[in-house]
Amino acid sequence: MKLIRLQGNKLYTLAPLDLVADASAAVEGISLPCAVSVSLVDDAEIRTINQQQRGIDKATDVLSFPTVNYASGMTAATANARIKCEYSADEKAYLLGDILISIDHVRAQAEAYGHSAERELCYLLAHGIFHCFGYDHMNPTEQTEMRTMEEKALNLAGVTRDGDRESLPTDAQLIALAKEAMHRSYSPYSHFKVGACLMSEDGRVFTGTNIENASFGLTICAERSAVFKAVGEGVTAFSTIAIAAESTAPWPCGACRQVLNEFAPDIRVLVAWGDDHTDESTLSKLLPHGFGPKDLP
Ligand code: THU
Repeated sequence: MKLIRLQGNKLYTLAPLDLVADASAAVEGISLPCAVSVSLVDDAEIRTINQQQRGIDKATDVLSFPTVNYASGMTAATANARIKCEYSADEKAYLLGDILISIDHVRAQAEAYGHSAERELCYLLAHGIFHCFGYDHMNPTEQTEMRTMEEKALNLAGVTRDGDRESLPTDAQLIALAKEAMHRSYSPYSHFKVGACLMSEDGRVFTGTNIENASFGLTICAERSAVFKAVGEGVTAFSTIAIAAESTAPWPCGACRQVLNEFAPDIRVLVAWGDDHTDESTLSKLLPHGFGPKDLP
């Protein structure tokens, strides 16, 4: 899911906010390319907007303004018809709302809860996003449901309180993240969109998409984009890769099989296409007798 950053330079560097946005969309099970705008403001500004929009003359941590008017009991996962009214040709995405976060509250609440400002910012972003997905916390049941979704998203993004994950990402979550990455495909020549999500042995996720070039041979596949991102971040041990495309099963090409073999000869390979088709294999089956580091003296 795309984050349109409106204000606040620190939003670009402070935290893995794009991954939190993708993970939120993945745990919700959104199938359309969506976006929210996010602004990092100070207490004075959020107070003014709280007063103007809600008649509450008080600073607060986060304000969300969903664009979609969800029918009762529905959230973004089940509201495609309504979401489809919110398309922005500029963003090439459906706009689900605007979120404001007070950096003064981020700092104060991080201190009060004894965790990092980064975690607090990620939490408030997830909270704002789930409001834009149609969640609320008007009663204890709603509150628990919303909180569970926020925690799932933060866990999938690897933003946990103590650095430990409660659980490894599931196959369905990896596939959902690959689909999120697929929406970012740069494929003006083939129009064949591919997204990949690579999971490291310790459960971190790295996404990639195919990036084409007017000099066609320079195109890079989604799988290699993800591998190179992870290796560039110092991660070289992988257990699963999920690959998504729109209409056909995106089994990795020969070049990607060879690159995966360099780091993870036994990696599981999941493919997903269409609305809900999936299949699974392993690299050792897809690249039998592969040549790799083990073959060099
Ligand atoms: N592509 C991938 O991203 N992964 C594969 O394993 C096969 C092909 C991309 C490359 C190109 O942008 C488009 O699909 C059509 O070949």
